[in-house]
Amino acid sequence: MRKNIVAGNWKMNTTVPEGVALAKEVNEALKGATTKCDVVICVPFTHLVPVADVIDQTVLGLGAENCADHKSGAYTGEVSAPMVASTGAKYVILGHSERRQYYGETAETLREKVALALENGLTPIFCIGEVLEERENGTYNDVVKAQIVDALFNLSAEDFGKLILAYEPVWAIGTGKTATADQAEDMHAHIRAVIAEKYGKEVADNTSILYGGSCKPSNAAEIFSKPDVDGGLIGGAALKCADFMGIVNAF
Ligand code: PGA
Repeated sequence: MRKNIVAGNWKMNTTVPEGVALAKEVNEALKGATTKCDVVICVPFTHLVPVADVIDQTVLGLGAENCADHKSGAYTGEVSAPMVASTGAKYVILGHSERRQYYGETAETLREKVALALENGLTPIFCIGEVLEERENGTYNDVVKAQIVDALFNLSAEDFGKLILAYEPVWAIGTGKTATADQAEDMHAHIRAVIAEKYGKEVADNTSILYGGSCKPSNAAEIFSKPDVDGGLIGGAALKCADFMGIVNAF
């Protein structure tokens, strides 16, 4: 059966010493605690090696926030999936709306990134979600379906089964405006139906689908109580140990 997961997305925040201190604090808080979910932190590339050195990945998983769409070569400034994997990280966020919006990521580049992540043993946390206009004009279900179909439906059922999905309505990211628990559940059920149509009910039932967008300790429990919501991808609230743990403990 699918797992419950709470994953932090640190985005472009913290220096290396600050990030190492935060990772240590979260790791300490988790050691000896009983949690009902897997916990992961996705950190800037510069932080992967020093953070890997100070955490116990049996209690706190480690991931990157992106990887390149090429394996190696003349791509100045890029960081490849094999490089990420060589740090000991096990996860990689792909297709975050900020990457799509500010760095022009398309379904085509994302297909390459997903393939390279999987080839290198990384678990993609693949983000999908509509913008405000699409929420308001009622096209959100079609938009999210197209994001999944275009970037992921080239995968075999076996490979699709290795993914974690994160539904992040763009209008709720960093805005303080959360989707209601019912809005999240409706979309997560829709996503699961889209997966079932292509790969069958078993693959759909086994896929963890996280909610992301202004998730905090005060709203996490209600959102996580929904049957198709399997956890959260947490931005702002992942930067404070107490807030992040408050969300972890919402399960
Ligand atoms: P937020 O970000 O929790 O700060 O809204 C979530 C995300 O973008 O992953």
